[in-house]
Amino acid sequence: MPIYHTLGLVPRKRHIVFRQPNGTLYTEELMGNMGFVGPSSLVYHVHQPTQVLDVSLLTELAWMADPDPAFRNRHFRTGRLPASRSVIADRFPLMFNADVALSFVQPDEDDESFYRNAQGDEVVYVSDGAGVLECPLGAIAFSRGDYLVVPRGIVHCYRFTERPARLLVIESAGFVRTPHRYRNEFGQLMENAPFSERDIRRPSDLRTFDEKGEFPILVKKENRLTRVLVDHHPFDVVGWDGYYYPWAFNINDFEPRVGRIHLPPPIHQTFEGDGFVICSFCPRPYDFDPRAMPVPYVHSNVMSDEVLYYASAEFMSRKGIEYGSVTLHPDGVPHGPHPGRAEASLSQTQTNELAVMVDTFRPLRVAMDAVAVEDQDYYRSWVESPRP
Ligand SMILES: [Fe+2]
Repeated sequence: MPIYHTLGLVPRKRHIVFRQPNGTLYTEELMGNMGFVGPSSLVYHVHQPTQVLDVSLLTELAWMADPDPAFRNRHFRTGRLPASRSVIADRFPLMFNADVALSFVQPDEDDESFYRNAQGDEVVYVSDGAGVLECPLGAIAFSRGDYLVVPRGIVHCYRFTERPARLLVIESAGFVRTPHRYRNEFGQLMENAPFSERDIRRPSDLRTFDEKGEFPILVKKENRLTRVLVDHHPFDVVGWDGYYYPWAFNINDFEPRVGRIHLPPPIHQTFEGDGFVICSFCPRPYDFDPRAMPVPYVHSNVMSDEVLYYASAEFMSRKGIEYGSVTLHPDGVPHGPHPGRAEASLSQTQTNELAVMVDTFRPLRVAMDAVAVEDQDYYRSWVESPRP
C-alpha cells in the first residue's frame, strides 16, 4: 500500500550503524516485492532472521481440478463445510487458475506455528469471527466484514477471539493493490475513490519478543508447505518503516455508488491484482429513475470468469442462494436475474445485499473438493418450468 508507515525504533538514516542497549547491532532487513524496486519496508530485528535450525516438507498442496468437463454456471455452499483445525493447513480449495486461488476455511483452533506465504499475496475476507492478525510489524484487530491484505513474505499468525470463524481466502500470484484508477500520480486515493486512506487500518501495538528457542514457521512455496524451524521468536522487531505491511479494510467502509440507472459491477471495485479484480457489493439504495430496472441485466462477461461469495443470505437477483454460497459464472454462459426477480425488484427502493466478487480474466478451474458441496442443479435454475 502506498502509505508510509512507521512503528517503534528506527535509526536516523537507513543502512547505518544501529545498536541495541547491550551494544550489539540490530539486523536490518529489507522486506518487499519486485526485488529492490517495489513497495518495501526496512525492518530492524533483535536477532538475525537468517538463523534456520531445520527444514522439513510438511505437506503437498496440489489442488486437483474437477475432471467433469461439462461447461456450466455452478454454485457451491460453503456453509455446509465442516469446521477444520488450522487456518493455514486446512484450507478448503474452491477454484483456481495461474493468477488467483480461492479457498475457504473455518478454523476452530489457533495455530502453534507461524505462517509465511512465499508464493502469493493473500486477501482474507472475514465473513464471521474476530481476532487479531499478528506479525513482526505489529498487530491488526479484525472482525466481521474485514478484508485482511497480507503481502507475500511477511510472517504472521491469527489469534481468534470470536468463533465460529469463517474466512474466504483469495491468494494472488501478483501484487494486490488498490485500483490504479482510484489513485493520483502521487499514489494518493483521489476524492472520487469509494474509500480513502482513513479507512485503511495499518499495524499498531508493536511488541518485541526477544526469545530464543525453537519456533516453527510454515512457509508456502510452489504449492507445498515447508516447516522451517528458527532459533528465535520471529516477532523480534524493534522498529520498521516503509510501505510494505499487512493492512485491513472493512467492506462496510466501502461507499457504494448508485446512479439514475444501473451502474455496472466495476463501480464496486475494491482491489486489483494481476489477472483479476475484487469488488464489494454493499447495501445501497436502488437507482433513482422511476423507470430504472433495479436488478442487473443479463450479461455474458466475455473474457472474464465471475465468482460471487454471498456474505449475506440476501441477493437481489438470485434465488436458492444462502449465506456462504459461492457461484461461478464462467465466460461463455450468460447469467442474470432469476425468473420473477426483475419484476419483483420494481417495487423495492434499496438492497441489503453483501457480497464479494472476484472477476478473473483467465478461466478458473473448479477444485475437486468443492464438488462435495455443489448445488448440482444450479445451471438449470433459470428454467421457469424445470424438467421433472
Ligand atoms: Fe454477473
